[in-house]
Amino acid sequence: MNDVNQDVRKLAEHTFGTWNWQKAWQAPMLVTDAEGVNFYDAQGKPYIDFSSMLVCSNLGHKNPAIIDAIKEQAGKMCYVAPGFTTEIALEAVEAIRSLLPPGLSKLFFSTSGTEANDGALAMTRLSQAPAYKVVSRYHSFHGATPAGMAFTGDPRRIPMERTGYTVNGVMFAPDCYCYRCPFNLTYPECHTQCARYLDYMFAEDGNIAALIAEPVVGTNGRIVPVPEYFPLVREICDRHGVLLIADEVMTGWYRTGKAFAMDHWNVQPDILTTAKGCTSAYTPLGLTVANSAVADYFDNNLFCHGHTYAYHALALSAVPAAIAEYKKLAASGLMEEVAAHLKKKLFQLADNHDCIGDVRGMGHFWGLEIVKNRSTKEPFNTKQDKITGQPLMTAKIAAAAMQAGLYVMPWYDNLTIAPPLIITAEEVDQAMAILDEALKVGDAEAEATGIPASRSSEFYQS
Ligand SMILES: Cc1ncc(COP(=O)(O)O)c(C=O)c1O
Repeated sequence: MNDVNQDVRKLAEHTFGTWNWQKAWQAPMLVTDAEGVNFYDAQGKPYIDFSSMLVCSNLGHKNPAIIDAIKEQAGKMCYVAPGFTTEIALEAVEAIRSLLPPGLSKLFFSTSGTEANDGALAMTRLSQAPAYKVVSRYHSFHGATPAGMAFTGDPRRIPMERTGYTVNGVMFAPDCYCYRCPFNLTYPECHTQCARYLDYMFAEDGNIAALIAEPVVGTNGRIVPVPEYFPLVREICDRHGVLLIADEVMTGWYRTGKAFAMDHWNVQPDILTTAKGCTSAYTPLGLTVANSAVADYFDNNLFCHGHTYAYHALALSAVPAAIAEYKKLAASGLMEEVAAHLKKKLFQLADNHDCIGDVRGMGHFWGLEIVKNRSTKEPFNTKQDKITGQPLMTAKIAAAAMQAGLYVMPWYDNLTIAPPLIITAEEVDQAMAILDEALKVGDAEAEATGIPASRSSEFYQS
């Protein structure tokens, strides 16, 4: 086993760890196997995957139907140039279209969520010229390229922006974040001011081409908008001729209970981007979908965008199989039943832990916002702590959970509870028992205020 540890240290020495100070990238856990909702380390110890890795392994690990589909395509043909087409591309497009709203009709495939958003920017800036500005929101992550980083409101943008890496022409709007309302208002008396402020921005600024938004904010907190938010945003965008780009990279593929999160509010974006669950992370794939108004522009104008691996046959091979699995799962009723159980359990958990400020989410997509004081909402850590490499309370809680066999993804102020959609109620209970213990690490440093945790999702969902 010593040899394995040495090899892992050597790997860390010769590779970059993502989004991290490299001195902290010393010996990543060697994962040797994974099946269902579990993965295993080199000693064979199981861990429950309570965040679907990076909210992408939606169907769990080792799904036989998806593996067979990949094997079959690998045996046939892994790649042809994107100027040709393949049988698997025909099948994948039809499978995806069966879940998309009818207005979203034209697809472009790349290999990541970041590239899906790059594709959206190319479509936007070309079709909306001379308007070129994109409005994003402060609680957001949209990717790692100069465009994705520029759209990103979370702390990762700040060091990159200083270097001149990010594209220009991006502005930030307030979030629909009731736990910490940027207007210090309370729903419903607030009159959804966060959406109405966009009206003011669009009217006062000029040259605005698009708004990009995660329907339910992912990494940055599983922030569920109030029901009026997206219908109102849609109406404001239409009035100003601004495209609405829904970044469904995390929220797509039944993560929130419906095929796409925008389906909860019956709102159709002009452009939808997705990745991750599209193949349940069995192959890398990004997807940008345009409505006909955007798509038609390119009939007589150059679509000046593409990649060597666009429409990669092996990447596409997982799509029809994954979609068939999602449909089967949705029809079985398991997802709905377990989502209700998960919600109930998380609310109970929040009652027992002083360090949980707010519990919110929908479907299999939940967040626990970790605070030092529930009454003042003082956080343990800020965006600045993340950038400057300070120890994070969320990381301490996640480390305690990991020690006990549970993986939960920490961010600077929240924990991600997003298990594979195949998880059973019993597996949720096992995970919750471990999380219950691990959260005591946070409680030990939080103040006992005697007030309950906020449950902002209660009024978000009808
Ligand atoms: C909402 C959102 N958009 C874009 C991305 C970027 O996707 P990728 O990491 O596949 O490039 C992510 C990744 O977590 C994401 O959550």
